[in-house]
Amino acid sequence: MCGIVGYCGPKNSTGILLDGLKRLEYRGYDSAGLAIQRSGTISAVKKTGKIQDLRAVVPPTLAGNCGIGHTRWATHGGVTDLNAHPHLDASGKIAVVHNGIIENYVQLKARLVAEGFVFVSETDSEVLPHLISYYYEGDLEKAVRSALRQVKGTYGIAAVHADEADRIVGARYGSPLVVGVGDGEMLLASDVTAMIAHTKQVVYMEDGEIVSLTPDGFVMTDIHDKKVNKKVDEVTWDLDSIEKEGFACFMEKEIFEQPDSIARTLSGRLDAEYATGKLGGLNMTSRELLAVKRVKIVASGTSWHAGLVGAQLIESVARIPAASEFSSELRYRNSVVESDTLYFAVTQSGETADTLYAMRELKRKGARVLGICNVVGSTIARESDGGVYTHAGPEIAVASTKAFTSQIAVFYAFALMMARMRDMSFSAGLKYVKGLQSIGEKVGETLKQRDRIQAIAKKYCHARDFLFLGRGLEYPVALEGALKLKEISYIHAEGYSAGEIKHGPIALINEETPSVFLVPDDSLREKVISNMKEVKARKGPIIAFATEGDQEVAEIADETVFIPKIDELFQPFLLVVPLQLLAYFCALELGRDVDQPRNLAKSVTVE
Ligand code: G6P
Repeated sequence: MCGIVGYCGPKNSTGILLDGLKRLEYRGYDSAGLAIQRSGTISAVKKTGKIQDLRAVVPPTLAGNCGIGHTRWATHGGVTDLNAHPHLDASGKIAVVHNGIIENYVQLKARLVAEGFVFVSETDSEVLPHLISYYYEGDLEKAVRSALRQVKGTYGIAAVHADEADRIVGARYGSPLVVGVGDGEMLLASDVTAMIAHTKQVVYMEDGEIVSLTPDGFVMTDIHDKKVNKKVDEVTWDLDSIEKEGFACFMEKEIFEQPDSIARTLSGRLDAEYATGKLGGLNMTSRELLAVKRVKIVASGTSWHAGLVGAQLIESVARIPAASEFSSELRYRNSVVESDTLYFAVTQSGETADTLYAMRELKRKGARVLGICNVVGSTIARESDGGVYTHAGPEIAVASTKAFTSQIAVFYAFALMMARMRDMSFSAGLKYVKGLQSIGEKVGETLKQRDRIQAIAKKYCHARDFLFLGRGLEYPVALEGALKLKEISYIHAEGYSAGEIKHGPIALINEETPSVFLVPDDSLREKVISNMKEVKARKGPIIAFATEGDQEVAEIADETVFIPKIDELFQPFLLVVPLQLLAYFCALELGRDVDQPRNLAKSVTVE
């Protein structure tokens, strides 16, 4: 979604902003722009397309010590240069970039038009510079505060005024904004990736806060102009983790990083002495955990699939009824909240609007909601009642990969902990701990199938439709495999329970529609083999992912990829990784933009 970056300090801001915008590309966008303040004027340049297209039209002479930049993901108004940000007021002295949606912009615009203000774009955001200019009396921060009192909706904004040298005013309500504290320079951005090249000292803004930045420091106030004291946090990862490090793209790097990212997630969270899981951040006593009678998980996209794996595990391992639901559905369905139900909000970014609002709705009803988040300091991480950071490291590719395996790793540790408080024996617990400890290595072995999977992708990537089929714990993995393929290759794909195809999807089977079967060596293997035969009888091509040495499966399938032998409980880790590779290689073969697929955003901050 949209991204913001701002800089004030001794250096030329133009290059810093363009580089910062480049780092925000991963969020998904369709146009970009920047506004530079110099000698009492504002110069703005905006362009549809990629950052390199913007870079190409930025005049080499454009320089100044203070500026703001933006990547736009269109909501109100088409993808045009005029609709791109920054937006300026009529005098051209105030420039504003905005993330979020101004819900009452129609009313505000009508009022401003009646006052004689002329609008040039179709966006909701353009009301902001005009409204700020309406209130402006020589103090940008004051004018921003007055303007925002009139606004309904969500925003993260950065504004500059031509007459207030080296000053940026930012404000947050529902759309993240972070201040970067440098040495004699200050930055403002929608996420830390845009500023990590300059500083690791950051201050996370809360809803309702307004910040005024100058090269020497910042002053944070609330909407009523009351000073707010803020803590400076240190970002724990470095620039390398947001570089491609020799891989062709971020998605490939993130797929191959999984042996390490899973190990990071589980580090310190498995206790061999007591054969249990250890999750300190839950903020719950053992007695409170013992009183949990039900678990409900809310999430979107890939995180929802991780929730489906988590729910099955919690139910089968810990014997606690559990379910996973779309955040966007839960929020509006007037769900029943019971005091002995524990909720999880699962989210890589920690900013997904659907999940955030679902969490707030649950909390409003009195629920205890824990977060499983990857991004440290994100809104959901801060507003939840406790939770677990996945520590997968920054995930840059829009299609989520390592975040998924880390999210399920958290659920494996949680299910173990809950089971060991109930009826799981010490020896079963120890076996489980050992199984989990071996996952990283087994994922590493699975990744060695890359060439085989690439060859399969080459052969089948021109198919119009794909089916992904699995049962039990492999059913959510099939859903995730289908999602990955459609997200980045744009091939239509359906994930289904293999047992359900006879109730409908089998009508789609023909010689041109490949079915991807997840058929590892587990208690449902025979059943899935029967489902494969049903497809085979209708001449459907079969790509099977099976346990090494399974000749029976290899004889039925047209293509077989073998995964290492492992306890059936842990197979989701080993099956999702080759599906990520399959999607990746199909997209590569079809020449798609793997890291930034069309129409998608990494962090969806609108409903
Ligand atoms: C977007 C991304 C998906 C992601 C979903 C949920 O749609 O493109 O990859 O799974 O949001 O994101 P979250 O950050 O909440 O996990």
